[in-house]
Amino acid sequence: MSSHLWSGRFDAAPDPAAFDFGVSFPFDRRLFEDDVTGSLAWAQALADAGVLTAEDAARIRDGLAAILAQGSAEPAWVSGPDEDVHAFVERQLVDRIGEAGRRLHTGRSRNEQVSVDLRLYLRRRIPRLQEKLRALITVLADQADAAGDALMPSYTHLRRAMPVLVAHYFLSHAAALQRDHDRLAAAAAEADFLPLGSGAIAGTGYAVDTATLAARLGFSRVVANSMDSSSDRDFVSSLLHACALSMVHLSRLAEDFILFTSEEFGFFDLADATATGSSMMPQKKNPDPLELVRGKAGRAIGHLTGFLATMKSLPTGYNKDLQEDKEAVFGAEDTLAVSIDATAAVIARVTLRPEVTRAAAGGFLLATDVADYLVGRGLPFRGAHEVVGRMVRHLIAEGRHFESLSVTEWRAFSDLFGDDVRERVTAEASVGARRTPQSTAPAAVAAARGALRAWLAEAARGRA
Ligand code: ARG
Repeated sequence: MSSHLWSGRFDAAPDPAAFDFGVSFPFDRRLFEDDVTGSLAWAQALADAGVLTAEDAARIRDGLAAILAQGSAEPAWVSGPDEDVHAFVERQLVDRIGEAGRRLHTGRSRNEQVSVDLRLYLRRRIPRLQEKLRALITVLADQADAAGDALMPSYTHLRRAMPVLVAHYFLSHAAALQRDHDRLAAAAAEADFLPLGSGAIAGTGYAVDTATLAARLGFSRVVANSMDSSSDRDFVSSLLHACALSMVHLSRLAEDFILFTSEEFGFFDLADATATGSSMMPQKKNPDPLELVRGKAGRAIGHLTGFLATMKSLPTGYNKDLQEDKEAVFGAEDTLAVSIDATAAVIARVTLRPEVTRAAAGGFLLATDVADYLVGRGLPFRGAHEVVGRMVRHLIAEGRHFESLSVTEWRAFSDLFGDDVRERVTAEASVGARRTPQSTAPAAVAAARGALRAWLAEAARGRA
């Protein structure tokens, strides 16, 4: 007897080139545990509906439990000539318990089975990615705490913009990763529908109580339409998008630190433990892990766009093209997981050079503060902008900065400048003058640090 699930219909053995091409077992074996979980619940549902005898249901349950135990104890055992993990589990079951095992697939299709498996898998695995994100966010929060009231320049167009607290900078990356955490939760919520009961496409002919089955498998709801559900992979696309966007965020964090740890910036030092040397140039200390994170973002974006291209124009109902979903999910998940870990390892060990960032946070970055000073004295902002523009042009020509001007020199540009101008135009005064809760004002950043710690504690409880 052939090992194929559909051998009754055919009288020739499959051509290896065609069959092997369609085999998904080498990668969908990652769904092993979920496949058994789904089958255990399905057998119970069939028994409840009177389709299986209590004895057969018990044999199936014991058989599946033994298969799960063996596969968990010995992962390499989950392999063989089978087309996919569903065929493997069924073959093992029939080998163990015979005839009763052949009744498990009653009223069920692999189309809904692969969907339920993938949904169960994501429910198990998304919290793991979220936990890694929280670990990285914690690293950023720790760096924000360690930075104290240190100052650095912020950039727009990669040109110095305004002084900010180093803590504010670290929290800016945490904010993006917090959204990623939420986006992963949204993808998990999208997967939280039971597809079983859909049959191959039209629904099953056995009166299975899908609400009870959903509850037993921990799903909040049952899908609404069997035709839609047999090929709905929106939850996969959402997960791939969440992973791709998170990788985009990691790539930006990586790029910042590739720059900030370079000789040109010198804002932070890379730890030896997370840097690499050059085989030829003895002076080099390269940020390879950060470069790889930046590079791997391309791979995660590829998983998303590639899968959307696979889905595009698929006719209604299951099509084998959908088998492509799993490698995209596993690839995106693996890429994000290792990239988060590597990023956390590097960022946890970078050390700030506060004298360098402080020096870079002064000078012409204070131009907006000078303009704001004049506005405070009643000059319209456009007029103030003009006065300060003239000052900047003059100071550049002289190779000087605002901080070097005497009060008399200030007054030469505008008699609105008072004695307090020298202490008002500093990087410290600049951050202290911000007034909104999302700003870099020290009090606002202190509150944001507290809010982030509270969020971390809350998020860890939510996912536990
Ligand atoms: N290995 C298949 C997949 O990944 C399982 C579903 C197969 N269904 C089918 N009708 N051939 O999609």
